[in-house]
This record gives sequence, C-alpha cells and structure tokens, in this order.
Amino acid sequence: MENNSKTIAVRYCSKTKAGNTRRIAEAIAKGAGVKAVSIADEDKLTEYADILFLGGAPYANIMDPELRGYAENLPSEKIGKVVLFTTSNWSRRTVRALRKILTEKGIAVVEEYFYAHMLSIDAKLKEAESFAEKYI
Ligand SMILES: Cc1cc2nc3c(=O)[nH]c(=O)nc-3n(C[C@H](O)[C@H](O)[C@H](O)COP(=O)(O)O)c2cc1C
Repeated sequence: MENNSKTIAVRYCSKTKAGNTRRIAEAIAKGAGVKAVSIADEDKLTEYADILFLGGAPYANIMDPELRGYAENLPSEKIGKVVLFTTSNWSRRTVRALRKILTEKGIAVVEEYFYAHMLSIDAKLKEAESFAEKYI
C-alpha cells in the first residue's frame, strides 16, 4: 500500500517572556499534528523531515545568533524543504536571512512564509494552524 504521509518537524527560536514565536510555532505544530521544539532544547535536527517549519524573530535588527548557528548547521540531507515563519514589530528580515543561509546550503525553501506581528499573536493562532495544514 502506498504511504503518502509526510514527516513534519517544527523548530523555533523564541527569546522574550511573551514567547511570541513559540506560540506561533505551537499553532503551526498543532495544524501539522506534531510537537513544536525549541532549538534551545534540541540543538540538532536528528530525524529526517520532509517539511521543516523553522521560525525566529529579530532582536535589534538581527536574528538571534543561536538561530543563525542552527540554520548554518542544518543537515541538508535530512530535509526535504523548509517553510519559514517569523514574528516581529515590523521586520521580515529573519525570513530573508534564513532563506539566504538555507538556499546557499542547497536546502529548498518554500516561497510562502508565515508572519505574525508581535501584538497580534492571539489573532493569528488559527491562521497559523491552517497555514500548516496545507503542508501535511
Ligand atoms: C531587545 C529587542 C529588540 C527587538 N528588535 C526588533 C527589531 O529590530 N525589529 C523588529 O521588527 N522587532 C524587534 N523586536 C520585536 C521582536 O522581534 C518581537 O517581539 C518578537 O515577536 C519576539 O519574539 P519572541 O517572543 O519569540 O522572542 C525586538 C524585541 C526585543 C525584546
């Protein structure tokens, strides 16, 4: 019998007490039927993922160095493609920077990404869940 089920992983970097990116990651994970994992708790992707949802936020105009390091060290052979997400006050640069790092490593990054403004997290949770459902 053919098995079309995809392996999905959700990884995020979230630094503020509000946990904005974590909350969006958890909504994405809910939509995808998996658990969201902080890169602070698991610093390497060990299992193959057909789709890796990866998200972070900018702090003083740059993404957290921990997230940069995580992206730079992602094993390209363990990833089908990456779908990015970010939260911020205005900037989308985390998405641009992650896309550049991953593309240069030969990892496919989906054009579409998920954005939530830091003050609209509650209002975006359902949308994040539906966003993820499209990829499963
Ligand atoms: C110290 C600090 C610096 C920030 N700098 C920026 C910034 O340069 N651009 C921006 O759009 N948002 C900025 N923000 C807003 C965060 O990116 C936003 O609150 C984000 O949702 C935080 O995600 P987290 O709660 O998952 O850590 C900053 C927030 C903090 C606390």
